Amino acid sequence: MDIITTTSYEALSITAANYIIEKLNNNPSAVLGMATGGTPTKMYEFLIKDRIQNNTSYQNVTTFNLDEYVNLAKNDANSYFSYMNKHLFTHIDITKQNVFIPDGLAENLEDECKRYEQLLQDKGPVDVQILGLGENGHIGFNEPGTPFTSRTHVVELTESTRQANARFFPSLEDVPTHAITMGIASIMNAKEIILLVSGKNKADAFERLLHGKISEDFPASILKNHPCVKIIADRSVLEQSSIIA
Ligand code: PGA
Repeated sequence: MDIITTTSYEALSITAANYIIEKLNNNPSAVLGMATGGTPTKMYEFLIKDRIQNNTSYQNVTTFNLDEYVNLAKNDANSYFSYMNKHLFTHIDITKQNVFIPDGLAENLEDECKRYEQLLQDKGPVDVQILGLGENGHIGFNEPGTPFTSRTHVVELTESTRQANARFFPSLEDVPTHAITMGIASIMNAKEIILLVSGKNKADAFERLLHGKISEDFPASILKNHPCVKIIADRSVLEQSSIIA
């Protein structure tokens, strides 16, 4: 794992955006794995800025999102469908047919998981997968204890994840209890992975990632087995951990 440390969240976001832009310049038909949550929002802002300034095209880019809540309407402000439209897709020239997000409203969720996994196989592999890090070490919505062999599946969200995400909802009760997520094996299939780590609340998870052993109790630890992972961490994480910025 390569570790890139940055002086600020802004710098983390520019570093990640520039990495993606360079990939797109080299391969305009790249397959990108998208993450949601608080951490990548500024990276998306920089991608939009670059789109305006340099006209980088996404017309032939394919995207796969990591996850989606179960039972939230697509147009619900908290669905990841809405998140992606708001933070990126409505600002770039992406082709709608090339955008893939699990359907958390599918009648048969198991079939939806199979369909999504098949799409990943057919249109993948993902060239660059963006990931955030959960406070409990989750990647996507793969909570501690998820088998490393898992493929796209339905998960019951842990209390800590629901609490961490409650800040986006009117109340904790409004946070969905289930989600569809790409599995750990699905994520590990990406050619390259960029893990974004920002905020004091991630310091413990960051330390465990660097110094802990590889274990299903801490899903992100599997990244140590991937041949091409870049961790971009900002000062707020480093100052809280024993790793010096
Ligand atoms: P965050 O979430 O970016 O909102 O902190 C990361 C995650 O839980 O994967």
